[in-house]
Amino acid sequence: MQRSDRLSIYIYEFAWILPSIAIPVAMIVAIALSAFAMGINVQGVYGRIDPTRVNETPPFDRPGLRQVGPNRYEAVIVAEVWRWVAATPDDKARRVELTVPRGSEVTFIITSRDVLHGFKIQNTTINMMIIPGQIARVTARFDIPGDYLFVCHEYCGTGHHFMYGVLRVE
Ligand code: CUA
Repeated sequence: MQRSDRLSIYIYEFAWILPSIAIPVAMIVAIALSAFAMGINVQGVYGRIDPTRVNETPPFDRPGLRQVGPNRYEAVIVAEVWRWVAATPDDKARRVELTVPRGSEVTFIITSRDVLHGFKIQNTTINMMIIPGQIARVTARFDIPGDYLFVCHEYCGTGHHFMYGVLRVE
């Protein structure tokens, strides 16, 4: 093999090796920057709770929707097999309906009483894991009137597909 041939192989190999190292490094840097410098984190993770004492632990001792300021609402929800509890803990209604006026800012505060659930609101970016022992929290503004279906999107058992509710924006 000629010397110049060998050199061009080295250059060719290097042209592949460099990006194969540089791209993962750039991705790790991007993740680190977004998490630590820009504060962008996985939605929801907010605090911890004893999952065996959900009924006694505020704010989950009073689940439901309440107004906390002008155009500001708090929706405290407990996930359990297979429903969202957003009223009194003994409320057996299967389909939860929450109603807010348009332009409202709603903070969802959710935990699970039993197994892993998921909370996703249709046509929004809200998508959280609902993990026993963890409090998930997210705030969103609803400017467009309509019915926003929210569903459990983590398979949680035979009644998983019954776990849905509606946020009505009037
Ligand atoms: Cu709860 Cu699926």
